Amino acid sequence: MSVTITKSQEAIALEDKHGAHNYHPLPVVLSRGEGVFVWDVEGKRYFDFLSAYSAVNQGHCHPKIIGALKDQADQLTLTSRAFYNDVLGPFEAYVTDYFGFDRVLPMNTGAEGVETAIKICRKWGYERKNIPENQAKIIVCENNFHGRTTTIISFSSDDNARDNFGPYAPGFIRIPYNDVQALENALEDDNVVGFLVEPIQGEAGVYVPNDNYIQACAELCRSRNVLFIADEIQTGIARTGSLLRICGDCTCENKCERQATYTRPDILILGKAISGGAYPVSAVLADDHIMNVIRPGQHGSTFGGNPLGCKVALAALEVVYDEKLMQNARKLGVIFRERMNTLSANSDLVKLVRGKGLLNAVVINDSEESSTAWEICMKLKENGLLAKPTHGNIIRFAPPLVMTEDQLHECCDIIEKTILNFTKSTD
Ligand SMILES: Cc1ncc(COP(=O)(O)O)c(C=O)c1O
Repeated sequence: MSVTITKSQEAIALEDKHGAHNYHPLPVVLSRGEGVFVWDVEGKRYFDFLSAYSAVNQGHCHPKIIGALKDQADQLTLTSRAFYNDVLGPFEAYVTDYFGFDRVLPMNTGAEGVETAIKICRKWGYERKNIPENQAKIIVCENNFHGRTTTIISFSSDDNARDNFGPYAPGFIRIPYNDVQALENALEDDNVVGFLVEPIQGEAGVYVPNDNYIQACAELCRSRNVLFIADEIQTGIARTGSLLRICGDCTCENKCERQATYTRPDILILGKAISGGAYPVSAVLADDHIMNVIRPGQHGSTFGGNPLGCKVALAALEVVYDEKLMQNARKLGVIFRERMNTLSANSDLVKLVRGKGLLNAVVINDSEESSTAWEICMKLKENGLLAKPTHGNIIRFAPPLVMTEDQLHECCDIIEKTILNFTKSTD
């Protein structure tokens, strides 16, 4: 018989005892969410400053998205791709028009999206570029985070993600991030078929590259007939103040008009907020000459393209424009960084703040190994705001994009008060 949780400690104890210890969560047990807020089992309310790693950009339990989920759940949830369903086609038409590509391949999780892009890219290399059998190489960056499958961790530079999971998949070249020359050098290898990159490295600690980096990389790839693959799983869907981070600081108010600043990738990978956190949906977009290398039986997933996920994603994407989330993220991002820069001037604990839109990180002035960032997050929790360190001493701040300006100021007050009153534990 299943247990009903009435106290946070009960849920924590059950996870501790019966679950694999593959995460180290903050000790808070959430049971409800609405907009920018989540509530714990005891009824305490928090501002959510993580948004499920940027999956809940549209806010928790958005009524339009949940409405679509409920309506579709009453109709049809899953057919597999053995048959057609009446939502996948409309979703595919909508999403390809929305992002400006010929075709989409729907999957479920972000890591599956990345795996899909790797497969498409390699196959394109063999069939369109005549790369010798099994010799295709994809360039990736140091400190990347693209998911946790065996292939993806094979090209990670994070020892904790990699150690003892070998043997590792070959066919990847790792270069420093934000280094155009390194890419140019790596492209000298004739067997390179793709360059896979995050336009901002989120998990690594919100590293924003130089303004011209993405554009320069895309141009270099084009000049070498190598596919430029943008992983926008975390940065996409309005998070950084534009529809996609590769749109640069494009400020189009309505359906994206593809302004001059837009660096169009050959393959675009989306996940997380494409479904507003209500259902796992990921998507890989590309034009005909690339996507058509995939033929029946060569890739897929039982759940990929299911009607429930498609209906949810359609609603979630509509919310982005309906509620001007890009504009809000851009405006609030500026305010957040201003407030944190002021805090940094008044506190030795805050080394710097960096980010774009509402994907930001505050770097704490302590060693990489210190527990200071974790301890600050614990204090933030006590004060009603949930955030989590990314790597070591870096705290990521990424609230839902439906936050109001007043709410953001309230949150900055909490962060300010917490940091200014913080004293490190002595053990
Ligand atoms: C840039 C990026 N790519 C891929 C992934 C993997 O997504 P998922 O956890 O849905 O597999 C993540 C997750 O954080 C991510 O940030």
